[in-house]
Amino acid sequence: MSTTTIDPTISAPPAPPYSSLPPGSPLPPLLQAARVARDPIGSALRLHRRYGEPFTMRFPGMGAGIVFSSPELVRQVVTGRPDVFHAGLSNAPLGAVLGRWSLLTLDRAPHMQQRKLLLPPFHGERLRAYGELIRDLAEREVAGWPLGRPFRLDERMQALTLEVILDVVFGITDAARKDDLRRLLPPLVESSRHVVFWGPIAQRNFGPLRLRETFELRRDAVDALLLAEIADRRRVPGEQLDQRRDILSMLVQATHEDGSPMGDEELRDELMTLVMAGHETTATALTWAIDLLLRHPAVLARMRAAGPDGDDEYVNAVCQEILRIRPVVPFVGRVVTEPVRIGEHEVPAGAGLIASIVLTHHRPDVYPSPGEFRPERFLDGAVPSYAWLPFGGGVRRCIGASFAQFELATILRVLARADVRLASRRPEPIRATGVTLVPGRGVRLVRVAA
Ligand code: HEM
Repeated sequence: MSTTTIDPTISAPPAPPYSSLPPGSPLPPLLQAARVARDPIGSALRLHRRYGEPFTMRFPGMGAGIVFSSPELVRQVVTGRPDVFHAGLSNAPLGAVLGRWSLLTLDRAPHMQQRKLLLPPFHGERLRAYGELIRDLAEREVAGWPLGRPFRLDERMQALTLEVILDVVFGITDAARKDDLRRLLPPLVESSRHVVFWGPIAQRNFGPLRLRETFELRRDAVDALLLAEIADRRRVPGEQLDQRRDILSMLVQATHEDGSPMGDEELRDELMTLVMAGHETTATALTWAIDLLLRHPAVLARMRAAGPDGDDEYVNAVCQEILRIRPVVPFVGRVVTEPVRIGEHEVPAGAGLIASIVLTHHRPDVYPSPGEFRPERFLDGAVPSYAWLPFGGGVRRCIGASFAQFELATILRVLARADVRLASRRPEPIRATGVTLVPGRGVRLVRVAA
């Protein structure tokens, strides 16, 4: 279906035997995953304390990963040569939902070709033009919160960031299609999370629990809507497309180096990638942000005082500290297709490398009292390179990073003014699901005044 000539297939060398890797927990992979799911930061800190750097972790159906966390070694992992350090192979479990053209699952030249197509729409000030729209959506969202009755903030933030994606990325104007996507995307995100975290186990059927069929039905329903939107957008005349600012309209007009346009399947895969990579991540960061602000009234008061436009420096420091202490994506992975050296450590071909964002962000040598939420630390001095990496790094660094930070700051300025309190003072448990660290109880709020 696609008109491009790139070949998106690269196979991984066989994984090296576990015994040849650095030490790690002797527990079976399923039990290790269960521990990580229940206490992702605590379990990483315990393993680090016990085995030092690097240590090895095992995941069900996905093999082992060698974990690094000091900024210098993390730098070597994320900036390693892209023809040897493969993020696409490491993200392979996402392929079931994202498809074979996804920026996240491709490597080498095919990855760079897709990245060149996707970067321009995310560049510079372009997406800042959406500031007003995002502020309006956030204000409308807060106005709809119930008075005096607890509600889950994570669900509300997911609805809000989905609206942003539907406008900014998809540019959907057809009300019925927008409604269908609002209804069908959240269950697909939910199914995909299990597929990613539990690997092939979540793609099997267990008696009446038809996990694979449920996932495929959900994916196919969303695909049909995305392909219909792509077909409609191709019919819009070029001069009208030029007036539109959404990302799909730009991608429909983008061309590969040989002048060929992106195919339907390619566009579908990148749209799915943008929604999967950009919707829940931003919603989760916002949910953690409010949880942290409500537990730190002095920081909240200063955010409120900043108002809708003022004190950018402080608001940015708050956003940086939120993403440090609660990095939404706890680690990024690479699979090496040749033997490599990371610091003094020899790594065999086929091994998985993990740059542990949670561990780097909790290093006391970089961040004194790392468990404390203190935005001022980002005002006081420069953070060493590769010590703050919520968006990963190198040629795989998140392409939505500056947009996500802009969206986070814009929405937080609105949310900080809402009259709400936490429904419970008990600490919010941190859970790992899919590729994100989420608040276990969803951060329940009560609105105290309209
Ligand atoms: C707080 C919000 C977000 C966080 C924490 C986040 C984090 C990340 C991380 C850690 C990576 C992997 C980088 C690596 O392997 O080194 C990534 C990749 C990516 N992100 Fe984000 N992201 C966020 C928001 C977004 C948004 C809003 C979009 C787009 C709408 C987006 C699109 C992508 C894409 C397409 C990639 C793949 C890049 C590649 O492989 O070349 N992300 N993100």
